[in-house]
This record gives sequence, structure tokens and C-alpha cells, in this order.
Amino acid sequence: MGIQIAPSVLSSDFANLESEIARLGDADLVHVDVMDNHFVPNLTLGLPVVEAILARTDRPVDCHLMIDDPDRWAPAYAEAGAHNVTFHAEAAAAPVRLARELRRHGARAGVGLRPATPVEPWADLLPEIDLLLVMTVEPGFGGQAFLDVCLPKIRRARELVSRSGLDVWIQVDGGVSAETIERCADAGADVFVAGSAVYGAEDAAAAVSDLRELAAKAAH
Ligand code: DX5
Ligand code: ZN
Repeated sequence: MGIQIAPSVLSSDFANLESEIARLGDADLVHVDVMDNHFVPNLTLGLPVVEAILARTDRPVDCHLMIDDPDRWAPAYAEAGAHNVTFHAEAAAAPVRLARELRRHGARAGVGLRPATPVEPWADLLPEIDLLLVMTVEPGFGGQAFLDVCLPKIRRARELVSRSGLDVWIQVDGGVSAETIERCADAGADVFVAGSAVYGAEDAAAAVSDLRELAAKAAH
């Protein structure tokens, strides 16, 4: 699939989501952060807003569910038409069953890992998923500093995926910017979420293409 840039609307103007998504230039995906104030100490938006976004954009929607009990809540996002639905490893009770359900509804199934969650236990489950999200900040807020300590895990995730021969995307999320994206691409990530680096820029579309160029140059 190659390099993909997924701007996060968390840093956009929530009162104008339609136009905020429209100004993303050639971004591949639009990343939507669902937070429930339980799994993370922040509350954003839920299914009705995701449905409204889906109705107003042709861009594939990448849902990042930072919520408790994704076994119960995640399938509805796939049913609504999200392209990717990522639940957190730390929150899912039956991740294989859940990933299968997401796929059955036509979504790519993603598993998110907080900084302290190891990737190794997922090695045998890679055939069940389509995306591994390696968080490079503690989830919950935009604008945090990138955690370099997560780079070795990206590298190990890439090794596992390469060895498997499967089409599992490796996504990074948190503090991804022009300063840090090359390190992520060099470590093996191929899907890059960026919130403040895109919406904090004067020209969001230009920020997207700059990030893509930097990632492409650093990728192997
Ligand atoms: C944070 C969210 C991110 C957030 C990233 O927990 O998952 O998607 O929007 O924001 P930046 O790119 O500003 O770190
Ligand atoms: Zn996110």
C-alpha cells in the first residue's frame, strides 16, 4: 500500500468538521479519535458524529477507539461504514472475535498498543488483523511530545509483519510531525497519523504533502 497520511481531526475545529476535512488535500485517510472518558481521561465524540462525517466525505474514515468495552461498541462503527476500526489491545476482552466481527462488517480491523503494551503477543494473531497501531504518546490528547522510546517497538512490529508476509499496516499516532516522521518511517511505519502537525499548520494540505515526502524519503 505504501505511505499513507492520516490527519487527525482531534486538532481541527469541531464546529466545522466538514470543511476541516475538505481542506486536507491528498490525505489518504481521515483519522477520528473516539474517547469515552474511561479508557482515556478525555471525551470527544461517538457514533452519531462519525456517521455525520461519513455522510459528508468520500475520504476513508479511520476510527481510533480509545474506549472501554470495544467488544460491545466497536462493531457499530464498522457497520456505519468506517474503513478502519481500531480498538485497543488493553481494552478488548475477546480481540479475535471482535476483529472477525469488524471484518465481517467490511472494515479493516486494527489493534492499538499503548506505549507500555508489547507487540510480541500479537505475532500469532496477525492473520486476524489488518492494522497495528503503535501509539507514540499516551493516548488521550493531541499535541503531546513524541516518545522516542516507542521506536524499537515499531521496528519489531515491522519485523513481525514482514516475516508473516501479510498485508498488515503499521500505524503510528502521537507527536508525529516533520521533526519525527522520518524516524517512524525508518523504523517501519507506513500509516502516519498527525493532528497538530497538520491542523496547526497554516496550509493543512501542504503539511500533508510535506509529511508524505519526508516519510517516503526515510522509508526502506
Ligand atoms: C491522541 C490521539 C491522536 C491525536 C494525535 O491520543 O490518538 O490521534 O490526535 O495528535 P498529535 O498529532 O497532535 O500528537
Ligand atoms: Zn488517534
